[in-house]
Formats: sequence, C-alpha cells, structure tokens
Amino acid sequence: MREIDIFDTTLRDGEQQPGLNLNLDEKLEIAKQLDRLGVNIIEAGFPASNEGDFHSVQKIARAVKNSTVTGLSRVVKKDIDTAYEALKDTANPRIHIFIATSDIHIKHKLLMTQQEVLDAAVEAVRYAKQKFPVVQFSAEDACRTSWDFLTKISSEVIRAGVDVINLPDTVGYTTPNEIKAMFQHMKQHVHDVEKIKLSAHNHDDLGMAVANSLAAIEGGADQVECTINGIGERAGNASLEEIAVALQIRKDYYAANSTLKLNELKRTSNLVSKLTGTIVPGNKAIVGANAFAHESGIHQDGVLKESTTYEIITPELVGVEKNSLPLGKLSGKHAFKTKITELGFELEEDDLKRVFKAFKDLAHKKKSVTDDDIFALLTAEKSGS
Ligand code: KIV
Ligand code: ZN
Repeated sequence: MREIDIFDTTLRDGEQQPGLNLNLDEKLEIAKQLDRLGVNIIEAGFPASNEGDFHSVQKIARAVKNSTVTGLSRVVKKDIDTAYEALKDTANPRIHIFIATSDIHIKHKLLMTQQEVLDAAVEAVRYAKQKFPVVQFSAEDACRTSWDFLTKISSEVIRAGVDVINLPDTVGYTTPNEIKAMFQHMKQHVHDVEKIKLSAHNHDDLGMAVANSLAAIEGGADQVECTINGIGERAGNASLEEIAVALQIRKDYYAANSTLKLNELKRTSNLVSKLTGTIVPGNKAIVGANAFAHESGIHQDGVLKESTTYEIITPELVGVEKNSLPLGKLSGKHAFKTKITELGFELEEDDLKRVFKAFKDLAHKKKSVTDDDIFALLTAEKSGS
C-alpha cells in the first residue's frame, strides 16, 4: 500500500478565498488542529507577502509538533530569505517555491521567455537548497503547460537539488484522464524522477478537483495538496476530507492511503467553518450535515435493518457520533416506530397506525417534523384528543 502525503494549504491557498481573513490566534488554532489530524505538511502562509503572514508562519512553525511546516515563496532570493527567517525554528522546515510555466502565464503575466523561467527556477532551487533540508518546486499552471517544457524544467530542478515537484491545475481546467496521463508521462520521462516526490494541487473550477487529485495518485503522485472544506480562491481547492476518505474507503482500488486520523475530520471541518465564516453545504460529502442522514422510508428501513445497505462510510470513521433518520413526508413506519421508542413511548399496532397517519398529514404540511411535533402527536393520542 503506497502512503500518500497530505499537504494542507487551508492557511495559504484556502485563505485566498475572497472575503476571508483569519487573525493570528485563529490561524494558530487551525494549525494545531491540522497537526492533531495528522496532516503531513501544513502550508502556513506566504511569509514575504506581508508582515502578518510572516508572523503567523513563524508562530505556527514554533507551535506545531509533528507536521512539517512550509511557506510559499517566489523564485527570488529575498522571498527565500524571508521564508527561512519565518521557518528556521520548526523541526521539519520546507520551502515551497513557485513560478508559472504555461505559455499563457509566461507571455501575459511574467513577460519572460521559457529559458528565463527555467533559469530562475533552477537558481532559486539551488539557493534554497543551501538553507532548507526540503525544497518543493511548483510549476504554476502545470496542467496548461506543454509536457515537453514541464519535463525539461522538472529534470533541471531535480539536478539543482529539489525534493518535491508539484504540478498544479491552477485554474481547475484539467480532467481525470488528462491529469493521470500527465503524471504517468512525468514518471516516464523526467530525468531522475525516482529521487523526488511528485505532487498534485487541484482547483475546483469545473468541480473536478477531488477526482483529479485521485486520478493524479493513480498516475503516480505521492502527495496531494488540498484544503479543509475545499475553501480557496474562486471555486476553491480540492477538499482534504473527501480525498482522505475516498482513499480509505477505496484503498482496494487506489492501493494507496493516507496516515490521517480520520476521526478528527468532522471536528476540523467545524473549526474551519466557524473561524472562516464559510458555511458547509448540507449535502457536502463527508462533513455536510446530511452526509449521514436518511429521510426516505425505503432507505430508513434498509439502514435500520443493516447500515451498510445505504452507508459506505461509518459516521464514527470521520468523527460523527451517529447517523440520523430525520422524519419527513417520505419517511416510513419503521423509522417512525424507532423514533417513538426513542422518545419513550410504546403503542399498540392500531394506535401506531393512527399516529403514523397523523404524522404523515403533518409531514405534508411542514418541511421537517421535529421531536417536539411527534411528542405533541403522541401525547394527543394518549389523552384521546
Ligand atoms: O494554484 C496554484 O498554482 C498554487 C501554486 C502557488 C502552488 O496555489
Ligand atoms: Zn492553488
């Protein structure tokens, strides 16, 4: 079974979500929880971008006990020096250097040539390697970069001493088949690729960030970069919790897994949601309020008989106490009877039929039927009204 490194970038790429602004204490609280969750790498910020980021990266680097802490840097010496100052006190410092490699970015944003990009990347990696034990290089917009140039720049940064090469789908443009093929191509053609780890970093503009991350793993990626609840710029990043649980549940298929403490996922999601003010949709996989709720009668009956009929993930696996069977207009008698037993009532079959009919009438009028509603129906039945 291959072990996949989980690189969390909630505090860097996640914080690029419009309107999001975490203070130092909040960042520290999230970093400590990520450490508890067992993520392999925490990207704590971009130290050279502003003083606030510098201080929070430094505080996180000093506070985190187990995870590697990293900070982002452009391919410039000043950024690398600043990142070193922020990260030097952590047990396992890593620098994360990036420059764009696609023609579209090189021509319109960087106003450089491919050769200048390659030289800048190699020089930055060589310089960073003198200070950091682990150097990661990202080819920004890799998924829209020609495979020839991607192969060439990757081979050159390996020669300069890089340890991890990250190939981001910066604009969420790629598809699972394409990204798998790209990683397979890199594994076959990059010189000395076996000396380093390859990493995927996917954005969700077409809703494929998680699928692309898993496909990248199939293609040979050893590390995936992601955020809690999928927060991030535009449509966000790949969701950490979805990737981690997909690996656990389908390890038979991927022959790979993470070492995360999955039962910390719900707590981590709640914390990030609370501190960022980003509401998690009810139907969000793994951490949404409805992820373990069954409302239709047929599903409730199945789950009550044997939970695996409709649950591929146990709630406890991800730190949710138990599943729920909310009662609504589609609910059946089995779930209703279970609920009234939970509420401490026992009814003869005829009485049960009558109260169930009253419940169905009410459920057609209300969006959701609460325990209090059912209690009222039951006490009305008892008092004969
Ligand atoms: O999306 C991206 O390309 C990035 C890089 C800086 C890694 O966030
Ligand atoms: Zn990104």
